[in-house]
Order: sequence, then C-alpha cells, then structure tokens
Amino acid sequence: MNPPIVPISRREFAKTAVLGGAALASGAATPADADTRPKRVRIGLIGCGSVSNSYLPVLTTSPFAEVVSVCDIKPDRAKRQADRFKIAHHYPHIDAMLAGEPFDFMITLTDMQVHEQINRRGLAAGKHVWSEKPIANTLAAGQELLRTAKAKNLRLWGAPITVQSPQFAFMARTLAAGKLGRVAAAHADYGHGGPDWSAFFYEKGGGSLPDLAVYNLTSLTGLLGPVKHVTAMLSIVTPERTVGDKGRIKVIAEDNAMVLMDHGQGVISHVQSGFNYFNPHGHEGRKETRHTISIVGSAGFMGLVGYDWEPLGVDLATQESPAVERLVTDAQGYIWQQGAALAAECLATGRELLVTPEQALHVLEIITAARESQATGKRIALTSTFKWPIIA
Ligand SMILES: NC(=O)c1ccc[n+]([C@@H]2O[C@H](COP(=O)([O-])OP(=O)(O)OC[C@H]3O[C@@H](n4cnc5c(N)ncnc54)[C@H](O)[C@@H]3O)[C@@H](O)[C@H]2O)c1
Repeated sequence: MNPPIVPISRREFAKTAVLGGAALASGAATPADADTRPKRVRIGLIGCGSVSNSYLPVLTTSPFAEVVSVCDIKPDRAKRQADRFKIAHHYPHIDAMLAGEPFDFMITLTDMQVHEQINRRGLAAGKHVWSEKPIANTLAAGQELLRTAKAKNLRLWGAPITVQSPQFAFMARTLAAGKLGRVAAAHADYGHGGPDWSAFFYEKGGGSLPDLAVYNLTSLTGLLGPVKHVTAMLSIVTPERTVGDKGRIKVIAEDNAMVLMDHGQGVISHVQSGFNYFNPHGHEGRKETRHTISIVGSAGFMGLVGYDWEPLGVDLATQESPAVERLVTDAQGYIWQQGAALAAECLATGRELLVTPEQALHVLEIITAARESQATGKRIALTSTFKWPIIA
C-alpha cells in the first residue's frame, strides 16, 4: 500500500531530504531519535556508470533511503560502487538482483534504450520505479508501464526534476499571476560537446533530445502547459565520434535539434539542444550564468539565469517595474541529483512530488513527435497531456 498523500512546501521538502541526510551522515542522530526516525525505503539501483556517481552520494545519506543492492552488466562497476558506498549486495544482472536481497524501490540509471525493459521488469516484480530519462522508448510503451504501475498500486517516476526548483516555482507563480501580460513566446537551449564515454548516446534511441532537450521540454511544458502540436528539424552535425566504450562509432541519433511547440491560446515556444555546442563551462555546465530559458509576454520578460537543472536566479522585468531585477538566487536545498531521494521520501512519508509520470510521458511524446516531424516534414498533433499548472 502507498502511504496517504500529504502536501508539503517544496522548500521544506528539499531541505528535509538534503539536511536530514547530512544530519545522519554527520552522526547527529542519537539512539533517542530512533523512534522518530523515518522509515527507510529499501532500494535496488541498476546502472553503475557516470550518473550513479551523482545519485549515490545523495541516496546513501538520505534518512529515507537504504540502498541495499546495486547492479550492472559490467560487474566490476557494481562491485566498485558497492565498495565505495558501503552497499551490502552487488549483482551482474537484473534477474539476480530481483531474486536476491529484497527491496521495494528500483532506480534505473542504465543506457537510455533499455530503461523501458528494465522498468517493466521492476514493476512486474512489484517494485516502485524511478527512471532516468526516458521512462520508455515510446509514448504507448510508457503509458502501458504507467497503467501497470497504477494497477499494482506502485509508483513510477522519471527524471528530470526541473519543476522542483525554487526558480521554476517562482516563474510558474509569476506566470499564473499574469505579471507578463499575454504570454507570447519562449525559448530554451541546452548543449555541450557531447558525452565521450558511452556509445548509446549516439545510437538509435539516444540523441540530444532525450539526453539534453528533455530538461528544457520539462521546464517549458511545466511553465506554459501541455503542447498541442510539434514541428521540428533535427540533424547530425558530427557523423562519427570516438567514445570510451566502443571506440570509433557512427552517429545514428540526432546531435542537433530545433523543436517548435504550440501550447495553445497563441503561445509558441522553441527548444534547441545539441552535442556540438561550444561551452566554456564544459559538460558539467557548472555556474552557467546566461539566460537558458526566456519567456516574453505583452507586459513582461523573464529569464532563467543558468541551466534549468542548476538554476542560479530569475531576471524579471515588467511594465510596472521595467528595470531588470535578479530574484530567487537561493537554491533552497534543490539539487538536480536528488530526484530519486525525493521519491524515496515520498514513499516513506507520503509527501508528494511535483514531478509526475504523466508529464514525463508528455515530454517523451514531444521527442517522438519531433522525430516524426523531421522524417515527414509535417506538423505533428499530440495526444497526451498532464495536470497543469504546476504550482508549489
Ligand atoms: N552522466 C551524467 O552526468 C548524466 C546526468 C543526468 C542524467 N543522465 C542519464 O543517466 C543515464 C545513464 O547515463 P550514464 O552517463 O550514467 O551512462 P553510463 O554509460 O556511464 O552508465 C550506464 C551503465 O548502465 C549499465 N547497463 C546498461 N545496460 C544494462 C542492463 N541491462 N543491466 C544493468 N546495467 C546496464 C552499463 O554497463 C553502464 O555501466 C542516461 O539515461 C543519461 O541520460 C546522465
């Protein structure tokens, strides 16, 4: 059974997840706290590559999580992370992890193309699932996973968590209050030189849309609402690459993408992403300070300072107050790496996230529609939607 849903403010939520973890990690909890300690959700994490180095430090210090197992088809990686993060069990295959040490919550951090099959296995085995993007390879498959989860009273979530940031919350509230007047247009962009460690980013089912544009698509749909139609142009700028796991490879998936979205009521937005973007801040993108999202209306302008996954503030100018003002420069505990830990907190306490599988699947439909638009030269109508607005 899932616990009852108890609303909590995003500031309070992010702080309990991060600070609670820090308190336990520092040994601040005493035996007297034992009775009041929250239930820890038992976790099996699959995929021990690059991003596991971002997830595991947060999960292993969260008061709501206990990582009992890690798994990777490259068994040395599973063993290395088990040793490094003091995790009791490590497995070379999902079958072995599901048959091994019992757990309740599976976290999928593998190559993008296999998320769908792994998430399906996890749900079939009765596990709640948090998946790196995308949850599935197609909208239909993702909807089937969500139906399975709901039928079994399980939870399914997908990264990214840009809607959890205080900057997103401020922008959503500003739009809802009508401070920009009639909203007309928005632009968002995210790119770098492309990952150089794994081939899957460039193979069928990979690409800059599900790896990078997904952040901007989540933020813009979260701010402006579900999309009705998509038009896109995609291309491959660098046809061959050298990557760590496979050497010289042919690039099959888009490494350059322009997506136009119609949100209805005249609102049009645009996302661009790619693996050929010079970026002085490198792949990590740390401390990017330009506007990566801008929204303009008849009575105001808003620019997100930095990337939506690591925002540093919001610049706002309105008819009433035309001098650009920088606001919301405090992250309030939000970090992009905390999504699965917030989901564990949700499972343990019933405190609900703003991240929903319905929105993740809508973003997945935008990505597949962009590919269809490129292939056919047509404007593609979307069928999915999600609950909007997203106001903390
Ligand atoms: N690397 C990052 O900084 C980063 C940041 C945010 C999100 N992501 C997302 O995280 C996911 C993983 O990316 P990554 O960079 O960690 O890739 P990676 O190649 O470094 O790691 C993927 C790991 O999954 C393992 N794997 C593949 N198939 C498996 C299977 N069937 N069973 C068990 N293990 C399997 C691989 O052996 C590998 O160790 C992707 O969806 C990516 O978009 C990555």
